Amino acid sequence: MNTQTPQKIAIVGATSAIAEHCARLWMASGGAAELVLIGRDEGRLQALATDLRIRGPGAEVVCVAGDLGSTEGIASLVERACAGRAPDVVLVAHGSLPDQAQCQGDLVQAREALEVNGVSPALFAEAFVARMQQVGGGVLGLIGSVAGDRGRKSNYVYGAAKGLLARYAQGLQHRLVGSAVAVCLIKPGPTDTPMTAALKSRGARLASVEAVAADIVAGMARRRPVIYTPGKWALIMLVIRHLPRFVFNRMDI
Ligand SMILES: NC(=O)c1ccc[n+]([C@@H]2O[C@H](COP(=O)([O-])OP(=O)(O)OC[C@H]3O[C@@H](n4cnc5c(N)ncnc54)[C@H](OP(=O)(O)O)[C@@H]3O)[C@@H](O)[C@H]2O)c1
Repeated sequence: MNTQTPQKIAIVGATSAIAEHCARLWMASGGAAELVLIGRDEGRLQALATDLRIRGPGAEVVCVAGDLGSTEGIASLVERACAGRAPDVVLVAHGSLPDQAQCQGDLVQAREALEVNGVSPALFAEAFVARMQQVGGGVLGLIGSVAGDRGRKSNYVYGAAKGLLARYAQGLQHRLVGSAVAVCLIKPGPTDTPMTAALKSRGARLASVEAVAADIVAGMARRRPVIYTPGKWALIMLVIRHLPRFVFNRMDI
């Protein structure tokens, strides 16, 4: 994103801690002329909007609440977010970390996890990219995860959904070669947000949400196709992806 020219920015799942910190950075840099906050909970969106208006008094902040889980809901939210004109920058951030064991025993929970982390964000990306192509440009960031790089027993339902996003982003990027629309696949490692509160209480080492948001905003400004954050995860996942199966199968991860 060109921080010299304030732009229209739309964030799906805007109440996510990672998304909120990206929004703060865009507001602080003066990069946002208009910020569209999209989510399922009007009250939480309005509270966030109030905070962001104080941080960036020059920008217009609007909230668009609705159903992120149905095709009709997604189409309607994108249409409302594109009122006036399509955004220059879109961040698709919603998701939830399911309990792997519960998903294994309950197909309804498994399906919900696959839909909220995979199908819904992919459909938002598809719909926003179409709008951006119509106006001739833009950058879309899609938050996947390092968990999407290789399936493992402790979280493969979530990982499979994030893997879907990785392949979707790859295909969109291939389709958009030569166009002015860019898609960035963002792969955070474990990050200190409400989503990982249980991991934190078990002593897991987590990246700060501020650092992850800074990597995302910088990476999207440079239109990087893949953004690992923190950057060390690019190397860690390179190793994990290439571990031979007989080694991987002995790991308790
Ligand atoms: N934190 C990590 O360690 C980590 C690592 C890798 C990737 N990620 C990804 O980063 C993104 C942001 O995560 P975060 O850590 O910032 O999480 P977070 O603070 O817990 O926020 C989760 C967001 O997803 C929304 N959401 C959850 N379930 C939903 C549903 N069923 N329908 C619609 N919206 C739903 C929440 O909306 P409400 O506010 O309405 O609840 C909230 O906006 C997610 O895609 C996550 O998978 C996170």
